[in-house]
Amino acid sequence: MYLKKSDPQVAKLIAAETKRQNETLDLIPSENIVSNSVLEAIGSPLINKYSEGYAGKRYYAGNAVADDVELLAITRAKKLFKLGDEWSVNVQALSGSPANMAVYFALLKPGDTVMGMALSSGGHLTHGSPANFSGKLFRMVSYDVTKKGFLDYNEIAKIARKEKPKMIIAGATAYPRVIDFQKFSNIAKEIGAFLMVDMAHIAGLVAAGSHPSPFLYADVVTTTTHKTLRGPRGALIFSRNDHMIASKKNPPAGGPGTKVSISRAIDQTVFPGLQGGPHDNQTAAIAIALSEAATPAFKKYAKQVVKNAKSLAKHLQQLGFTLISGGTDNHLMLIDLTNRGLTGKQAQDKLEQAGIIVNRNTIPHDTRSPFDPSGIRIGTPSLTTRGMKEKEMKEIAALISDTLTKGSLSVIQKRVKALCTKFPL
Ligand SMILES: Cc1ncc(COP(=O)(O)O)c(C=O)c1O
Repeated sequence: MYLKKSDPQVAKLIAAETKRQNETLDLIPSENIVSNSVLEAIGSPLINKYSEGYAGKRYYAGNAVADDVELLAITRAKKLFKLGDEWSVNVQALSGSPANMAVYFALLKPGDTVMGMALSSGGHLTHGSPANFSGKLFRMVSYDVTKKGFLDYNEIAKIARKEKPKMIIAGATAYPRVIDFQKFSNIAKEIGAFLMVDMAHIAGLVAAGSHPSPFLYADVVTTTTHKTLRGPRGALIFSRNDHMIASKKNPPAGGPGTKVSISRAIDQTVFPGLQGGPHDNQTAAIAIALSEAATPAFKKYAKQVVKNAKSLAKHLQQLGFTLISGGTDNHLMLIDLTNRGLTGKQAQDKLEQAGIIVNRNTIPHDTRSPFDPSGIRIGTPSLTTRGMKEKEMKEIAALISDTLTKGSLSVIQKRVKALCTKFPL
């Protein structure tokens, strides 16, 4: 409305991106489409406020509303995931990676041993990649998935007993199967490690009961708010406030041996440890998304996300594609392209030309580099938000197959556009 007049250059770019999203099929499993209410909150005057500190303990005046916004987001987060008084929630971390960083810095010292899923097996960069702060500042040991692509809990236990990590991370960025949080918890308990669950990818499924919840088992749960949870970019850190660690204050406020709850340590690490002021507009948008995720409509949505992923997987397999682990239990799948004479990057580029947006991905025990790996990762959260169902999944499997094998590009482009037009953003 205003932008077109005041800055036509940026207005044009936003219009072009909106058109691109409308006219392409987004199969990137970490992306989604937010509601208009979330968009409205992101663009609200809450963006103008500085609120360093926490509710009731801010450094600047004028924060009564910011306090209410933050407390509402916390209340809604606890309600959505059915949490009691033993859980605290920090809603200020700016995104998933800083949220994970806050947990590391709150619970550990640099050099401590941490165990996470290898990047090549589906773990996230923050779970120990050498290119990431986690791999640079901590002694990371990693667990892989089996050749078939499944977590092997006996093997994970063996590594844990040998390496004695202070923290174990369960959670992934490219794992198509259910994660057994109880098994991870048993391993962590046996060696006295913290269990951190990073449920960024599956948070929406957990909220809706379409994936088992980690909250019975974890000390800390982190999540982004912008993937299956369908909110704005952002993160939540849930932690057990009845689990204690030694105070890192030097000298400790209450004398030697003073303990603080891990929740307090995490809050202090987010602010002032890592960040200044929270993004209050983002917090409000998170509160909205959390309320949307508590509705019966969202429960239905999450169920459909999984049904669509299973349907897409089945049709791709019928067309001769190899899926890691032989299918999916959640919102995503990994296609192994080694038998198709294509690398992940070649497939990603070809599909993009057709209007099908995916991301290249390593497959377990990949012999190729992450820059040009052997697979692609695809998922259904975004398509499902647009209202697509099993019938469309069959068509999309055919479109992917045609693009990567024989089809005429211009014909495929037309078929993609026609499908997109039926399901506007
Ligand atoms: C499992 C997992 N954790 C953390 C993150 C990091 O989130 P962000 O990109 O918001 O930093 C991601 C994002 O891809 C993720 O998949």
